Amino acid sequence: MKKQVSACLLCFSATITNVALADSMKEAESIYKDVCAVCHGITGKGELPGVPDFTLPNGRLSKSDEVLTDSILDGFKSEGSPMAMPPKGGMPNMSHSQAKDMVKYLKSIF
Ligand code: HEC
Repeated sequence: MKKQVSACLLCFSATITNVALADSMKEAESIYKDVCAVCHGITGKGELPGVPDFTLPNGRLSKSDEVLTDSILDGFKSEGSPMAMPPKGGMPNMSHSQAKDMVKYLKSIF
C-alpha cells in the first residue's frame, strides 16, 4: 500500500512538471511569434540582412544555453554585422527565466 501511494505521488509530480514545461514552451512560442519573428522569421531563417539563420547545423543555436540567454537579455552584435540584436528583442519586461525558456524553445524547433 505504501509503495502504491509513493508511486502515485511520483507520477503526480511528473505531471505537474510536464504541465509547467508545456506552459513555458507555449509562452516562448507566443513571444517568438509576436516579438522575435519580425526579424528572425517564423522559419528561423531570418527576414532581414544581418539576421542569422537559426536552422544552420553549426549556426548560432550551437552556442551554449548560457551564452544565448545572455545574448537575448543583453543584446548582441557581431563584428561587422549590419544589424544588432536588440536587448530582450525589444521586449523590456522579459525576465531571465523567460529568456532561458526561449533558448530551450529555439533549440527544440530549429
Ligand atoms: C530588430 C530585429 C530583431 C529582433 C526583434 C530580434 N532579434 Fe535576435 N537577432 C537580430 C540580429 C540582427 C542578430 C544577429 C546580431 C549579430 O550577430 O550582430 C540576432 C541574434 C540573435 C541570437 C543569436 C545570438 C548569438 O549569441 O549569436 C539569438 C539567440 C536571438 N537573436 C534571439 C532573439 C529572440 C529570442 C528575440 C525575441 C525576444 C529576438 N532575437 C528578436 C535581430 C533581432
